[in-house]
Amino acid sequence: MIVTGIQPTGTPHIGNYLGAIKPLIALQAEDEDTYAFVADYHAITADFDPKALRSNSIGVAALLVASGFDTSRGRVFFQSDIPEHLELAHILGCTAARVGQLNRMTTFREKMDAATEKESGETPSLGLYSYPVLQAADILAYQDDKGKPTRVPVGSDQSQHLNFAIDVAQSFNHRFGQTFIIPEPVISCTPRIMSLFDASKKMSKSDPDDMNRINLTDDADRIRKKFRKATSDSLYIPLTVEEIGDRAELRNLLTIYGAFAELTFEESLDTFAGKGFGPLKAALTDVVVEKLEPIQTRYRELIVDPLFGHSLRMGAMAAGILAAETTARVRETIGLSDSAPAALEERFNLVVPNYDK
Ligand code: TRP
Repeated sequence: MIVTGIQPTGTPHIGNYLGAIKPLIALQAEDEDTYAFVADYHAITADFDPKALRSNSIGVAALLVASGFDTSRGRVFFQSDIPEHLELAHILGCTAARVGQLNRMTTFREKMDAATEKESGETPSLGLYSYPVLQAADILAYQDDKGKPTRVPVGSDQSQHLNFAIDVAQSFNHRFGQTFIIPEPVISCTPRIMSLFDASKKMSKSDPDDMNRINLTDDADRIRKKFRKATSDSLYIPLTVEEIGDRAELRNLLTIYGAFAELTFEESLDTFAGKGFGPLKAALTDVVVEKLEPIQTRYRELIVDPLFGHSLRMGAMAAGILAAETTARVRETIGLSDSAPAALEERFNLVVPNYDK
């Protein structure tokens, strides 16, 4: 089984596509049982706009499917359709997560330190603090019935969160007996895609300057313009990887080209060795436009397709059944009331007929 979440913060860009979406689709090809959810509960841990949250959530789900995620083999759904994620998060938060460890999580630390420095700065939300606990619940809610570990594909920035989830599973098992199979992180080996202007920074959805990134929804003209304006230098592109040295912008553009043209970094370099940035930027525009256009066409169809909405609800139902099973088992293990799981069955039964309308 494969489980992963994608945050719906802003329009995804090519960094998200190459780092998360494309590897997930490749992994899905090997595994019948893939659960990919839009992590909208996580998206509300920081400042957000309700309308934007809704449209970004639908957008991320649609991009996943438009990029090739196969909903007949795997499930795409909204995390917030499955309240068991929250229920399990509370239980794990009480039984297996310790504030000592949460205090050390970098995402929280950075925001907390920034707020403390500013003095008048608002401290982060309680939800941001417990973010890793919810992420652990997201993963542990899905247990393979044959006892195989769940694989969790994520970007390299998520290692700390994944290790936390493993610790939580171990500590729960230690206290209450074998309950969770220890999950297995699959850390993406795609090199990080950097900003088009300043290649020392990650390409980011939250960068106020849109020219720094290529959004998956940018049209051909915009993509051309962004690559044209991307930072370059006046030197020739060298023959060997070593000679690239600290030319981070060049390295970044060659990385993007290689990833889209399905070439290794060396092959990408060979293609342009001895040339200037002009031919590289032109070829880069062509390959990115060529790869993104079919995705964009499909995306525009999906967001207005009622069948797509239907497939998300079917995904939620399939995922919800698994998450509910795990939660019921955990509730029983720790001695909570056993009537809630029955109510839950009703919830799914009630909802099913509506799907066929
Ligand atoms: N925190 C992840 C990110 O920002 C998203 C996420 C939420 C996730 N829940 C998850 C990833 C569970 C893997 C498994 O990328």
